[in-house]
Amino acid sequence: MVQFTVNGQAIIAEEDENLLEYLRETLQLTSLKNGCGEGACGACMVLINGLAMRACLQTLSRLDGKSIITVDGLSEREKQIYTWAFAEAGAVQCGFCTPGMVISAKALLDKDPDPSAPRIKEALRGNICRCTGYVKIEKAIMMAAQALRGEVVVPAVSGSGVGERVARIDAAEKVLGTGEYVDDMKVPDMLYAAVLRTPLSRVRVMAIDTEAARSLNEVVAVMTAADIPGQRLWGHLKRDWPAMIAIGEETRYIGDALAIVAAKTKKIARQAVEMIRLEYEELPPILSPQSAMAADAPRIHPDGNILSKVDFSRGDPQQAIAGAAYSVTRSYQTPPTEHAFLEPESALAIPDENGKMTVYIGSQSVYDDHHGIAAILGLPANQVRVISKFVGGAFGGKEDLSVQHHAALLAQKTGKPVKLTLSRQESLRVHPKRHAMEIVLTTACDEAGKLVAMKARIVADTGAYASLGGPVVQRACTHVSGPYPIPNIEISGVAVYTNNPPAGAFRGFGVPQATFASEMNLNLLADLTGLSPWEIRFRNALEPGSIMATGQIADASTAMKETLLAVKDEYDAAKVAGIACALKNTGLGVGVPDTGRAILRVQDGKVEILTGAACVGQGLATIMRQIVCETAPVEPELVRVHAPDTDVTPDAGTTTASRQTLFTGEAVRQAALALTEALNNSSLAALEGQEFAGQYRGETDPLNSDKPHPVNHVAFGYATQVVCLNEAGWLRKVVAAHDVGRAINPTTVEGQIEGAIAMGLGYALQEDFPMHRGVPTAKFGTLGLFRSTDMPEITIHLIEKNSSALAYGAKGIGEIATIPTAPAVAGAYYRYDRIFRTQLPLSNTKYSKY
Ligand code: FES
Ligand code: FES
Repeated sequence: MVQFTVNGQAIIAEEDENLLEYLRETLQLTSLKNGCGEGACGACMVLINGLAMRACLQTLSRLDGKSIITVDGLSEREKQIYTWAFAEAGAVQCGFCTPGMVISAKALLDKDPDPSAPRIKEALRGNICRCTGYVKIEKAIMMAAQALRGEVVVPAVSGSGVGERVARIDAAEKVLGTGEYVDDMKVPDMLYAAVLRTPLSRVRVMAIDTEAARSLNEVVAVMTAADIPGQRLWGHLKRDWPAMIAIGEETRYIGDALAIVAAKTKKIARQAVEMIRLEYEELPPILSPQSAMAADAPRIHPDGNILSKVDFSRGDPQQAIAGAAYSVTRSYQTPPTEHAFLEPESALAIPDENGKMTVYIGSQSVYDDHHGIAAILGLPANQVRVISKFVGGAFGGKEDLSVQHHAALLAQKTGKPVKLTLSRQESLRVHPKRHAMEIVLTTACDEAGKLVAMKARIVADTGAYASLGGPVVQRACTHVSGPYPIPNIEISGVAVYTNNPPAGAFRGFGVPQATFASEMNLNLLADLTGLSPWEIRFRNALEPGSIMATGQIADASTAMKETLLAVKDEYDAAKVAGIACALKNTGLGVGVPDTGRAILRVQDGKVEILTGAACVGQGLATIMRQIVCETAPVEPELVRVHAPDTDVTPDAGTTTASRQTLFTGEAVRQAALALTEALNNSSLAALEGQEFAGQYRGETDPLNSDKPHPVNHVAFGYATQVVCLNEAGWLRKVVAAHDVGRAINPTTVEGQIEGAIAMGLGYALQEDFPMHRGVPTAKFGTLGLFRSTDMPEITIHLIEKNSSALAYGAKGIGEIATIPTAPAVAGAYYRYDRIFRTQLPLSNTKYSKY
């Protein structure tokens, strides 16, 4: 028996158990989160006798006589101050790390009320944030310190319209941990699920014996592929991913599910999984595109090992390269990488007495999940409802089904609510990664450094299943020429199935890989022409009216050159700096139907925004409210935002391709215009119960359309980043200039850029996803994610010159900021030591592991 206090309350525990589990499950203190369960992320940080410690590493037996504090135990004044500081600084995005950050901040400020910036960084070293780049969290802690010292009075939050630094509407819930993520939910009679996965990446399943597992006390259901009532295969564009592998079938990667279990406790569910006996034949895994493309390679899918191909050309690249003053050819390799969103996948499925299934999720699209779940359960669309809770980060890694369908299958079978939450290690194995690519690239220019031709061959390891591999490789191909007009071009790409984990969407969608290659070739051409890396980019940069690689004409909003000019002084002044540019489409484009939708409903005297668009941490709800307040004569406190819910909110497409601010933002603006018109003749009260719908459909042309100048995408963002090193070869500073069209909320835009840069720096220098025979060997703590103490100073220049009325001129920012970072880092090291590196993460730097 141990006695301790939690937030001042005396606790007596009879049995020893893990502290995090105890606080979350027994005391229902869900403000602290389980991000990894292994001491690597800091999301479970608590104060134990005043010291910030990770709850997941503690057991109750070590706590006798100790005092434990979570954010719930902060004083009212502290709660008010931390909420204000984090909201005002823009320190909250997905929010999954936030309560842990607040605890680390409190541990510091209780001891050092006036900390230096380095001390704040050091205090956060144990807390990973994958969203913010730490900049605004550190600022928030500085602000909180001032307020706690009584030097500033916490002001009422102000601002509401477009262009204003409006504080996020979900900040308080996230800072204080009162907002719910799926794994925080607990409902009566709830069962817990666990999944049996393949022991090796490629086996033929001979038999699955579930008898022993079924007979275990408190096990309620065990299901295999034979028990799936609906469609077993699913996928966004190609249905090739089995919900469970059937007997006689081959597994294709280490995350493949073979059986699912529902039991009254998590422990029993896992124990039952261990008791399922599997007979299988081990088969040699196919681990690279090269071996998958060999003539005698076994077929991973019935129609072969090629998922998709992309080919397009303009002009005569062969002749142009032959006649060019300079040309360079290099081969580049980029690794698979892990999204490392802080919240592992979780779903809670609740059946009702009429057989309707409600599934709570934290993903990138309630509608995509809805389609997949309904098909697998064999239910009509109106018998499935999907509702989003807070999403603890996604970055492209929560576009595919991972837990939703398994929880729903077990709920359907048992007639009871079933929750399935992945452990961090399962999460690493299950969801798709960023594509590993090999890119052979030739770039040619004339004497003056003007680009005349490019040839690219891109081979991508798309892993076991299609996911979004086809469009990712297509986007790598359409963007490999970068933000430069190149008249002669020949691009080919291929996405190849292997027995590695599937590769799919990941912030940048194929473009970070392609841009690393193209920007590095440009550095070589700068050497050959004698131009500076800045100058060769400026001479070639797209301008309004320039023809892009696919034939699209750059529109009047194109501000590529402005981004280069914005960084010029800092680039010129730096002793050692690298520079890189990028462009990124907003929206799906290439002729794919793409629509943002929103409804404004007047209810209870308030305006409620209804949309299925997911906020995955980027702050969409706040942006939409700003657009409403800018457009219609409505005060911000009268506007609220409904969570995505397939029974209530219209389908606004997936949160992907940097599209929501433009697509759903424009839909909200349209709806707000209709509301404004109604308000001209009426009060808000008189409109009670009325709805105002808005929609924006982006019309685009397919790739290889017959048009000489197709519109493949409705908008492009442009960027230049400069990375500076100090004399010892450490990162010193990043300068980022971004053409964002219009910053609806500059604080939010900066937060996206800072977070994306942190991700890009990790991609450049440390992040890898090593595997042995298709089995990931990394843990969350060894992925190489950047910590607060790794981050250099960041300076941001926002360029706003888009006069389009669509969403007040906003272009997407979610992805582009991570794209130029890696080549800018590589360029800086090339300048530093003249070693030309062609592989990520870069070798032989201060950040290299080996
Ligand atoms: S959950 Fe404890 S450190 Fe990640
Ligand atoms: S806000 Fe820190 S992980 Fe999302």
